[in-house]
This record gives sequence, structure tokens and C-alpha cells, in this order.
Amino acid sequence: DVIREWFGLNQLEHQLEKQLGLNKVIVVAGNSLTQPWVKNDLGRSAVQQLKQWAEPNSVVSVAGGTTMEAVAQAMTPHPVLRTLLYVPARGGLGEKVEYQANTICSEMASRSGGQYRLLHVPDQLSKEAYASLLEDEQIKELIRIIRSARIVVHGIGEANTMATRRKASPQMLAKLKERQAVAEAFGYYFDRDGNIVYKIQTVGLRLEDIKQADHIIAVAGGEDKAEAILAFLKHGVHDCLITDEGAARQMLQYI
Ligand code: BG6
Repeated sequence: DVIREWFGLNQLEHQLEKQLGLNKVIVVAGNSLTQPWVKNDLGRSAVQQLKQWAEPNSVVSVAGGTTMEAVAQAMTPHPVLRTLLYVPARGGLGEKVEYQANTICSEMASRSGGQYRLLHVPDQLSKEAYASLLEDEQIKELIRIIRSARIVVHGIGEANTMATRRKASPQMLAKLKERQAVAEAFGYYFDRDGNIVYKIQTVGLRLEDIKQADHIIAVAGGEDKAEAILAFLKHGVHDCLITDEGAARQMLQYI
């Protein structure tokens, strides 16, 4: 705590809580853009927060990405975490297997001793395939569980980075540029003011379901994500942000 005080991390947290209207902000030292190990600290902080908020037997819906992978790595056996049901927030978004929400949620469950359910939805569904998938009883039931999650844990990405990583078509990239997308989370793309400008067609959590959760933990750091984090938070679904000093200081410059 003395070290946190020394580096002004507590002050940064309070400043961001106030300026962004968040219930809780946690800032870890460093900048994950240039110091990759800082992501592990983000992961550990997210797990600590989860331990504080989790109630026995609740449903936790988790997103994918490299930061969420760090969260999964930081999970350890724990009396409450062991009782949780981990589910992926949304179906296929075009990520590599390692970074898919399914992978992350099974890893979180196995490291903590909890249960998990997987959502098998292929990427890039046609409208017809999507509609018939939604008729499937098992998928319907799982989507109902996902939407009832009491806690949501997710990352936030920079729009172009995420679209490129997910091998978006040149047409989609052009559309995102034209609509001035700067942020991405859960397959939704946002402009600077937090408006949704593009949505990947898949199943699972919708942004309106997230608002019903008791706690929403966004985990995102790195100086390069500052603008994306601010844009996503402007959309209005937020509660707790776990970030690093690099992103925090950059965000304060923008607001
Ligand atoms: C995921 C979100 O949790 O994290 C994505 O679902 C987001 O939408 C991504 O963009 C960020 O990924 P990374 O690898 O930068 O943590």
C-alpha cells in the first residue's frame, strides 16, 4: 500500500472513479503496451475483485481476448469461486481458439474448481443459420443462463486492432473506418461517443443484458487502449474498471 501511495495509484483511481462515474477503478503499476507482464497484474486484480463480489453458485459470464486469458491464468482454488458456473459471454467472434471466450471460461473453471458450459456457435453465421440455431432447445437454455449472469468479466479492445486480429473483410474494415469505430467489446463496435456502430452477428449476451448484472468488471490496460476504454465506458454499461497506469494517465489527458 505504501508503494501504491508512492506512485500515486490510489489518487489515479479516485480521479478516474469521479471523472468516469464508475463504482470502482483499480489501477496497477506500469503500462501493458510496453511491459507485457503488467497484463498478469491486471489478471490478478480482476480475480481479487471477483472473489470479493462473487456469491456462492452464481453465474459468471466471461469474454475472450489476451487480457481475459491473463485473468484465467490468475485463477486459483477458492471456496466461493469453486461454486460458480462460468459461461462464455458470446458465441464466435472470429478469435483464435486460445483467446475465445469458450476457452477462457473452461480454463477459469478448471483452475478454480468451478463448473462451466460451452457455447458452440460457429463464426460468421448466415441470417438463416442464426435463426435456426436459436430454435435449438439446448442453445436456448444456455443463452438464458448466460443472460442471467450476476457478474460479467470482459476486455475492451481498440476497434481496428480487434477487427484485424479477427480477420475482418476489407469491406468490414472500410465500414468501421467510415463509421469512426474506435472501441470494441463483446463483438460490438463503438464510436468515440459510445454509440454502437457495428455488431457482429452471434448469440449470447446483449448489451442490455449486461446492464442487469450486479457487477461488470472491465479489464483493459495499455496506453494504446485509452481512447477505446473511454469510448466503451461512454456507452454507459459500466461498473468496475481494472486498468494500468499507462492507460489511466492517457485517459486523464483525454478527459
Ligand atoms: C475481449 C472482448 O474480452 O477482449 C473483446 O470480448 C475485446 O471484445 C478484447 O476487444 C480485447 O482483447 P485483448 O486481447 O486486447 O485483451
